[in-house]
Amino acid sequence: MDFNILVVDDEVEVCRSLCEILVSRGYRARYESESAKVMDRAECERVDLLIMDLRMPEIGGIDLLRRLRARWPGISVIMISGYATVENAVRAMKYGALNLYTKPVKIPLLIQEIEQVRKSMEAKKPVEDDESFVTVDPFIRSILDTVETAAATNATVLITGESGTGKELIANTLHAKSKRREKPFIKINCASIPETLMESELFGHEAGSYTDAREQKKGLFELASGGSLFLDEIGDMSLGMQAKMLRVLQDGKFMRVGGSKLLAADCRIIAATNRKLEEAIGEGTFREDLYYRLSVINIRLPPLRQRPNDIIPLAEHFLKHFAAAYDKSAAKLADDVQEILRNHSWPGNIRELKNFMERAVIFAPGDTVERATIPEQYRGMNPSGAPENLHDRIDGAARDIIREALSRTNGVKGDAARLLNIDRKTLYNRMKKSGL
Ligand SMILES: Nc1ncnc2c1ncn2[C@@H]1O[C@H](COP(=O)(O)OP(=O)(O)OP(=O)(O)O)[C@@H](O)[C@H]1O
Ligand SMILES: [Mg+2]
Repeated sequence: MDFNILVVDDEVEVCRSLCEILVSRGYRARYESESAKVMDRAECERVDLLIMDLRMPEIGGIDLLRRLRARWPGISVIMISGYATVENAVRAMKYGALNLYTKPVKIPLLIQEIEQVRKSMEAKKPVEDDESFVTVDPFIRSILDTVETAAATNATVLITGESGTGKELIANTLHAKSKRREKPFIKINCASIPETLMESELFGHEAGSYTDAREQKKGLFELASGGSLFLDEIGDMSLGMQAKMLRVLQDGKFMRVGGSKLLAADCRIIAATNRKLEEAIGEGTFREDLYYRLSVINIRLPPLRQRPNDIIPLAEHFLKHFAAAYDKSAAKLADDVQEILRNHSWPGNIRELKNFMERAVIFAPGDTVERATIPEQYRGMNPSGAPENLHDRIDGAARDIIREALSRTNGVKGDAARLLNIDRKTLYNRMKKSGL
């Protein structure tokens, strides 16, 4: 079976036993107990599916999940955790995990899921990501008008909004509609590059300007010449770099590191962040003068929960996309699924909805996405839409705490009761009340 699984857990024992089981079922499985090595391994070995722990030293599971899916959007990830709370599950799915299983993992369930993923992957066709912008919301429509107007100018544009609201898609649209569309569109993530490299990355360097700089190198400002430069996560740029950016924006000129010649910057700047820059200015981590320079045109994308009418059209759009990609006929959403989608608050916004739909298509048995095949964490989520009250939340928290205790004690109730410092009877009553 040419399906490669990488198990990632800081507990080598968990890795070993899971791998043994997987191999005995005919999968190719390997493990990695140091989360910091996973990106490098995925770079050199073929990995179709990762089964990954949530809490790990070095790089945590969610963080790693984000990085993996950003680098390889097609990679499948199943998370496992001793702390499989609803909150953690939603967080994991927001970043594209297929599921979050409580440890100790129920093997038959896991195998069933892996089989489904494997079959879907085999059937998967490379369908290009559709860049079309879906909305029925009048406010978002007005944003698209702003994009259109902005595209005709060279003005700097700042796009803000929570994670997953479509900032990058707006930036792409802006470049594609501008006169610069035939010229390069260069993107840089300001959060992922260390400050020391950032300057030479953006402005380039002259040979010999520092120890490693053997040859002259052009920076992104030069490479994007005539086109657009997208500074993603600008809210994470260091104050030192901010000062340098401000200078380029003011003068329209820059110098390579170690250079003495002023070069003209001929690229449109589009910046984006999910940070609240006004707050960052208040806290002294973002320069107010740079903020004004960047937000000549300011596009604020509202979270999905503030435009609930977009939920179903977006869900159907992604449904069509993934059905085509996985060669599935699934093309409908059952009514109760639609209700669940409408009532969910989508903290991960459109990215979460997109990930949700990909999973739904993988697990849909027929042509309809049904309630039974969507993750439990979404199903249970207050489908009536009535606001959750304090008692519900306390009950929910208690259920999570008990689950966690049981999972840590391998289901031995006496031990779990001791861990929680309550007597056995109270634990039984609580479990009954929580439906465990
Ligand atoms: N209106 C939309 N119509 C169709 N797809 C959308 C829409 N908005 C966002 N998407 C898709 O949702 C995903 C997330 O969007 P995007 O990457 O642009 O978000 P973002 O705001 O840049 O998120 P982050 O802050 O996490 O970087 C992308 O796959 C994007 O194509
Ligand atoms: Mg983005």
